[in-house]
Amino acid sequence: MALSQQSAVTINLVATLFLLGLIKFSIIECRRLESTGSDVTYTAINCRKHTAFLTDFGGKGDGKTSNTLVFRSAVQNLSQFANDGGAQLVVPPGKWLTGSFNLTSHFTLYLQFGAVILASQEEGEYPLIEPLPSYGRGRDGPGGRFSSLIGGNGTIDGQGSLWWKKFHKKQLKNTRPYLIELMYSKQIQISNLTMIDSPSWFVHPVYSSDIIMQDLTILAPVDSPNTDGINPDSCKNVKIQDVFIVSGDDCVAVKSGWDEYGIKFGMPTEETIIRRLTCISPDSAVIALGSEMSGGIKNLRAEDIRAINSESAVRIKTAPGRGAYVKNIFVDGMNLKTMKYVFWTTGSYGQHPDPGYDPKAFPRVDRINYRNVVAEDVKMAGNMGGIEGDPFTGFCLSNVTIGLAEKPKKLQWNCTDISGVSSGVTPAPCELLTDKESMECEYPSDKLPIDTVELMTCSFKEF
Ligand SMILES: *[C@@H]1O[C@H](CO)[C@@H](O)[C@H](O)[C@H]1NC(C)=O
Ligand SMILES: *[C@@H]1O[C@H](CO)[C@@H](O)[C@H](O)[C@H]1NC(C)=O
Ligand SMILES: *[C@@H]1O[C@H](CO)[C@@H](O)[C@H](O)[C@H]1NC(C)=O
Ligand SMILES: *[C@@H]1O[C@H](CO)[C@@H](O)[C@H](O)[C@H]1NC(C)=O
Ligand SMILES: *[C@@H]1O[C@H](CO)[C@@H](O)[C@H](O)[C@H]1NC(C)=O
Ligand SMILES: *[C@@H]1O[C@H](CO)[C@@H](O)[C@H](O)[C@H]1NC(C)=O
Repeated sequence: MALSQQSAVTINLVATLFLLGLIKFSIIECRRLESTGSDVTYTAINCRKHTAFLTDFGGKGDGKTSNTLVFRSAVQNLSQFANDGGAQLVVPPGKWLTGSFNLTSHFTLYLQFGAVILASQEEGEYPLIEPLPSYGRGRDGPGGRFSSLIGGNGTIDGQGSLWWKKFHKKQLKNTRPYLIELMYSKQIQISNLTMIDSPSWFVHPVYSSDIIMQDLTILAPVDSPNTDGINPDSCKNVKIQDVFIVSGDDCVAVKSGWDEYGIKFGMPTEETIIRRLTCISPDSAVIALGSEMSGGIKNLRAEDIRAINSESAVRIKTAPGRGAYVKNIFVDGMNLKTMKYVFWTTGSYGQHPDPGYDPKAFPRVDRINYRNVVAEDVKMAGNMGGIEGDPFTGFCLSNVTIGLAEKPKKLQWNCTDISGVSSGVTPAPCELLTDKESMECEYPSDKLPIDTVELMTCSFKEF
């Protein structure tokens, strides 16, 4: 599995985390060259020629000793193999306490079954870094931000509770660390991993491409602040598949920079597929598009989305000042239970990095298709607002059946500054979504490039 803060360019990062059955706790002082241990296999975009164990570098899996320098020196040491087939660093069963560390190119961080990476709760273990260029400042406030922690069915435990407390009490001068942040990277895989209690966002790929995030379990208390699950941000070719998320914020939030900084940086999130996501997010969206979308969001597909007890399904959040666009969004198949809204779009989201934003930078929202939606226990079917003088256009809703809660809102559809068509929608939608009778909203039949990537079978010898 992969981790945070990738330094510059290139990269070939496979963060692969896997489940391996029955691994003995024979960790320390292993002799893997003379190993008679069994082969461990897993699937990944790329296999690696060299293998090392965290214990080779002096790691202690007792849950108390800090391994920050151990992880950093292991990654540093293994970076020598970048041009010689790459390397995998195996984290054996145990509890590995650590602060922030970076990954490197042509590298796999592999957590064995029973391996837990425990995030340190010491601020000093997270070096301060610059704000992202497309955001201009940290999201929690001006000033720097703490580096992210990083990044088998191993576990990464962010131990976020102390950070949430400090955040609520306004005791932090800098933006909280994310759990895993990968920047300027290509060919990233994060799979078969459990992540719990991130201090803030869990997984943040940014300025990156060719990213597979699959078979993940992400868990945070539903009242924890800003614990978004997966936030692809100015990324191309992204697959999020078979993921279960319980979050205090959006389960998935697709982003691309903030107001004038994001407009200037100009890097969209595009060619994204989200498939078989299950979400619980009582106060936020199953999938949010925005609110930071100033590099644009286009060509996104979502299939087989399930949610229970969530605020809204696929929500567009933007505002004057954001600029750019949200377009060519296709959703096919949502099964929702206990929701405040099924459809929610907002053109007045607010939240600007500073007063320097351009209030005339209107976002364009166009061609947003939703089809085959079943929902039960819903308070309000659609709360769909655009921007006055800049309506959101090209909505299409077909085959949508919404069962209402015991005490639903009196007004089921509130549509302003939007336009589009609908067919087979119950309860009957607002007039701005013109009824077309028997029509099916389009869903593309071709595959996105990331969906054609085949994983290889890799292995190493367990000591
Ligand atoms: C990780 O990489 C980032 C970006 O290059 C850098 O700012 C940071 O200092 C690095 N952190 C460590 C612990 O090396
Ligand atoms: C995750 O692990 C399961 C069980 O071992 C395996 O079937 C699946 O292919 C793995 N996922 C990925 C992306 O490798
Ligand atoms: C790290 O790399 C050097 C060679 O560059 C090697 O001699 C050393 O043994 C490696 N491993 C550890 C555990 O430091
Ligand atoms: C990984 O662990 C999570 C939670 O412990 C579990 O729900 C999931 O089924 C496991 N995945 C695999 C492939 O075993
Ligand atoms: C309508 O959507 C439901 C739920 O996804 C699906 O089972 C059904 O086949 C769809 N009907 C048509 C005519 O596509
Ligand atoms: C409908 O939406 C508009 C624009 O978002 C809002 O100003 C208005 O208060 C809403 N009306 C109701 C009854 O919720």
